[in-house]
Amino acid sequence: MSRVPSLEDLGDVSGKRVLVRTDFNVPMEGPDDARIITDDFRIRAALPTIEYLTSRGAHVVCASHLGRPKGSPNVKYSMAPVRARLAELAPGVELLENLRFNPGEEGNDPAFVSQLINGIDMYVDDAFGAAHRSHASIVGPSLTLPSAAGRLLQREVDVLGDLREKPKRPFVAVLGGAKVSDKIGVIEALQERVDAFIIGGGMCFTFLAAQGYPVGDSICEQDQIETCKKLLAGPVPIHLPEDLIGLDAQGVYQTFGIRLPSGAKGLDIGPGSAAAFTDIIMDARSVFWNGPMGMFEDPRFASGTKTVAQAVADTKAFTVVGGGDSAAALAQFKLDDEVDHVSTGGGASLEFLELGDLPGLAALRGAPNAR
Ligand code: 3PG
Repeated sequence: MSRVPSLEDLGDVSGKRVLVRTDFNVPMEGPDDARIITDDFRIRAALPTIEYLTSRGAHVVCASHLGRPKGSPNVKYSMAPVRARLAELAPGVELLENLRFNPGEEGNDPAFVSQLINGIDMYVDDAFGAAHRSHASIVGPSLTLPSAAGRLLQREVDVLGDLREKPKRPFVAVLGGAKVSDKIGVIEALQERVDAFIIGGGMCFTFLAAQGYPVGDSICEQDQIETCKKLLAGPVPIHLPEDLIGLDAQGVYQTFGIRLPSGAKGLDIGPGSAAAFTDIIMDARSVFWNGPMGMFEDPRFASGTKTVAQAVADTKAFTVVGGGDSAAALAQFKLDDEVDHVSTGGGASLEFLELGDLPGLAALRGAPNAR
């Protein structure tokens, strides 16, 4: 595979207008017309690239999506709050309006690409979190412009690439989140690479059902039970919870064993499971964690995710946390500085581990200055 060009490969950027595709899809709260950013991690993560360019005399024009406005303007997804924060962190840098206000972005419309690169001399992709999307701003500009991966994209690919190709062993993947169907591809791909899986979160109930345990009213994907049976019969051990926390049929908080009674809903792993998972994580030498162990936004169901987060923070293993909810959980427990790498991409980090490449990387390898 040819190399993805780096910022240095752009040569002299002085006086150039550089379009930087960032992933400023940041969490926000508040009324639609007065949204407040609750975590600016993704904005700060783009600063090394922006500073590289501006300190060498380039004029930087950032562009990002925010949420899923489905091709039309929507005040809820306006870039205005992000623009204000960016102005504090990197004065003088432009930020275009939400790319997804135009249907040409997700449709990868060449006319929208032309509009984006009008008056632009160079393109930098630093949007790791969106590099798995074949959208206009990700795969279009590098068809014609000298292009490069930004520092954030480069670091993500280096870290995740090493984890995929040459992990220190034992390598343990800790997976959670609601749906097993979202993670089947990565579990199948990682079977050849990891030494063990730990599975919690909503997706554990489909595995428990595949083992024949009653799961009450917990989230369970019936159409994935056969797939889970095959994965459980595979060569790599899959560690599942042995106790659970949730609500009984009357809505009362309970700690359960592995069998959930009728009407009960499992919403977190239990203390015995959290302790067992901790032991496995402490003995690992590489850990990848994606997805919470339970509904951690509700303090009653946060203890499993908190214990696993603490283990990921405490282990001597090389630790990588895939973005999205697990990164938010780490931040909530103030453990984000205690792991080796917090990825800015949720879906992108899973897809990269699964396939070893992403549309955004392939596009950069095809840029005129890379050929
Ligand atoms: C993310 O938050 O994972 C990225 O910004 C990608 O967003 P998307 O799933 O809406 O494409």
